Amino acid sequence: MTQMVEIAKEALEQMPPETRFRPEDAALIARHKEVLLSWTDELVKAFYDSLFAHPPTRKVFREGERPEREKTLANWWRRTVEGPLDAGYFTWMAKVGLVHVVRKVENPMMLAMASFVAEFVERKSHDAKLPEADPLTEAFYRLSMAVGAVITHGYDRYRALALYNVAGMEPALLDRLTEEEAKGMLEALRKEGS
Ligand code: HEM
Repeated sequence: MTQMVEIAKEALEQMPPETRFRPEDAALIARHKEVLLSWTDELVKAFYDSLFAHPPTRKVFREGERPEREKTLANWWRRTVEGPLDAGYFTWMAKVGLVHVVRKVENPMMLAMASFVAEFVERKSHDAKLPEADPLTEAFYRLSMAVGAVITHGYDRYRALALYNVAGMEPALLDRLTEEEAKGMLEALRKEGS
């Protein structure tokens, strides 16, 4: 678990403070707990309707798995809305990211669905004409970014760790090789005139 704590911390610390999820955001979410929880079923349905309608995300799921997945997402939403949205929460998100790696859920899929949740809150809070719809929406965008940052950072770290465990390649060497490869690709693109 120490590793999950580190991954979450590293990811959040890389984000400039203005972009980070703030205590005021957490307080705002807590104040809207009732209304946010009342949207659970609709959010869960819309979330999985999107994933099941799109072949690349649909194929992640096993036959008959949807009811179980809906339960885990509803639990995630309740835990998110009820808080606390603290270091423990983001450490849990690093672990949730790991669970998705095992099921071959790619980063673009995770980021898209983090944004889906923020967009859902934006639409619902404006439809409900909540007086604090704008700051609540902003709070959810910051939260989604933070969750996305932790999950994608975790993905990078797990890959580096897997390579180390399987082939003994030090993460620093992997970083250097990645940089060299990127330089080589840029060079080739320049030569092509792109
Ligand atoms: C904002 C994005 C997402 C959130 C917050 C989320 C949340 C969760 C949570 C909390 C779990 C349970 C983890 C556990 O058992 O400890 C879970 C499991 C799962 N999620 Fe997601 N999820 C997201 C995106 C996705 C996407 C995009 C897919 C597929 C395309 C997906 C597929 C799955 C699958 C297959 C499992 C079951 C993993 C297993 O136990 O075998 N999720 N998700």
